[in-house]
Amino acid sequence: MIAEKMKGLVKNNSVIRQMFEEGKKMAQEFGAENVYDFSLGNPNVSAPEAVRENAIRLLKEESSSDIHGYMANAGYPEVRKAIADNLNLRFNTNFDEGNIMMATGAAGALNCALKAIINPGDEVVTFAPYFVEYKNYVANFDGVLVVTEPDKNTFQPQLSDFEKNVGPKTKAVIINNPNNPTGVIYTEDTIKKIADILYKKQEEYGSQIYIISDEPYRELVYTDTKVPFITNYYKNTLVGYSFSKSMSLPGERIGYLVVPSECDDFPDLFNAVVIANRVMGFVNAPSLFQKVIAGCLEEKADIAYYAKNRDLIYDSLVSYGYNCVKPEGAFYLWIKSPVENEKEFVAECKKEHILVVPGSSFSYGGYVRLSYCVSYETIKNSLPGFKKVAERYGLK
Ligand SMILES: Cc1ncc(COP(=O)(O)O)c(C=O)c1O
Repeated sequence: MIAEKMKGLVKNNSVIRQMFEEGKKMAQEFGAENVYDFSLGNPNVSAPEAVRENAIRLLKEESSSDIHGYMANAGYPEVRKAIADNLNLRFNTNFDEGNIMMATGAAGALNCALKAIINPGDEVVTFAPYFVEYKNYVANFDGVLVVTEPDKNTFQPQLSDFEKNVGPKTKAVIINNPNNPTGVIYTEDTIKKIADILYKKQEEYGSQIYIISDEPYRELVYTDTKVPFITNYYKNTLVGYSFSKSMSLPGERIGYLVVPSECDDFPDLFNAVVIANRVMGFVNAPSLFQKVIAGCLEEKADIAYYAKNRDLIYDSLVSYGYNCVKPEGAFYLWIKSPVENEKEFVAECKKEHILVVPGSSFSYGGYVRLSYCVSYETIKNSLPGFKKVAERYGLK
């Protein structure tokens, strides 16, 4: 018999993953070119050529034990140093390798951070709509996820609700910026206000509250809006980063966690995240790809490609009468459902072979998420279908 805690997870196995499987089935039935699968955030832009070149060079030149062996659970010191130097240059910070733990993607980084700080019953506040796995990650450590409502026009967090949600049991706040699923960037002003509220609450409750900044989309930005580097605004901030999206390497499971020396309980906190990495069975981030990315930190995937996709899908859907949040970052479009129950809208889209994800998968009904990390052709060919659905709802 499977564990009690797993029963719910098995029953509600990710809607997004199910759609991905369904998309593959539909492609077999109708032909791949006639199915427009916008369900998954799997980058379609190639990884930078330097990644491949670096991997080949390392495989040719380095000894097997140097690239495939175990190393310290925190990762190779020279890789961590290269990342610290790169962050210092970009964000005017003061990190060294002792502040960086290499992680198995953002997912690994978040789980290590939570394992290190959460006791059963502790509360973790986040902002709706949110990446569905947050609930599962927090539940891994018997924490309780508390959700803050967004401003319904801008999808910036509703700060009055946030303030109400931070209480004596709050141990962490997860911020995802740029945001999946809305594509919104939380502004510097928002981050400053969040930091002010947390400083006040820490003092009021005599507690320690950590921000966990989840940043896999940091480089995917299409406007001049700055994505604040939160350690510069709030002392107790851990940053989880991943190369899954910015370098199109999601299968390689490579990222890192930053633990600034200014955090309360440093260095115990750093040791705790590293031990979490070991005892949860990750042991260390993949060895070859630690070295590969250390040689390509200036590289990123072709963001102009996503920008072009963003313009086509946003402009077209708005011209058909859909109400969409204009994305500033990530590669998602957040579309208001023309009917209250967005699952009906999802079903209408499916009739046109268009797959989008219901907002309820991000704990926010009434909207759907479209991932535009697909080919330009896919977007172009899907447009008549979107237009037909808009006409059926009388949007224009
Ligand atoms: C907001 C957010 N956080 C974390 C992750 C996990 O990323 P990774 O593949 O680096 O583990 C994702 C992946 O889609 C994401 O969208």
